[in-house]
Amino acid sequence: MSNGRDAAGALRGVPGRAAAARPGDRPVAGRWMAVAGGAALGLAAAVLALSGTGKDGIADALRATARLAFVPFWLAYTGGALAALFGPALLPLKRRGRELGLAFAAVLLVHLGLVAWLCLLGAAPGARTFEVFGLAAGCAALLALFSIERLSRLPGATGWWLLRNVGMTYIILAFADDFLKGPLYGSVGDVAMYLPFTVLTVAAPALRLAALVRRLWHAR
Ligand code: HEM
Repeated sequence: MSNGRDAAGALRGVPGRAAAARPGDRPVAGRWMAVAGGAALGLAAAVLALSGTGKDGIADALRATARLAFVPFWLAYTGGALAALFGPALLPLKRRGRELGLAFAAVLLVHLGLVAWLCLLGAAPGARTFEVFGLAAGCAALLALFSIERLSRLPGATGWWLLRNVGMTYIILAFADDFLKGPLYGSVGDVAMYLPFTVLTVAAPALRLAALVRRLWHAR
């Protein structure tokens, strides 16, 4: 990665190569966001219909949208590592890093809408939630902002590298803060709600680390 343009390319998952936007990139990203945002709205509506629109129902919808957001985020976070470790069949994941990241941002918007609703009902989350998760939401907003072609050069290569690596790692840590709470406690339903996400949360940095070690090994 040598400059901001390359950094924009790296967001698309092809470091140093895809400097220019691929033809049709913008409409494709817009479609991914629309589908992800629509799915999140549908999921939230279904949960609220089942659990009610009181505080508990909204908390259920928050838990559901958080899990939905985790899917595109996990794929965006690990796509490069998966392709490096398991071969070119997984390259499409790496190449679609930007779209997956924007799909995550779209689902997160619905999650934040539910937070706002909770606040309006007088049941605002505690200060720690705002601090820890507000920072994660800020990282997501910056990543989405600088993935816009015209703004992508502003942070420079180092700034972009920092934002991408530190920002995304902070977001996975925010997920870990919830998913690692107690995956093996409670009913079968509780375990099912946590365990798969716990495993994936732990696997994500491990996969990235393994890909880094592999790269260093091959560079020797
Ligand atoms: C990138 C940003 C965010 C991430 C990664 C995230 C992640 C999560 C996760 C994983 C859960 C499920 C918790 C569980 O099942 O135990 C959740 C629920 C929730 N989130 Fe977020 N969240 C984010 C932003 C925010 C923000 C900014 C707020 C409010 C300031 C917030 C408030 C809540 C609340 C109130 C719940 C429901 C907690 C409960 O009652 O169990 N989230 N979030």
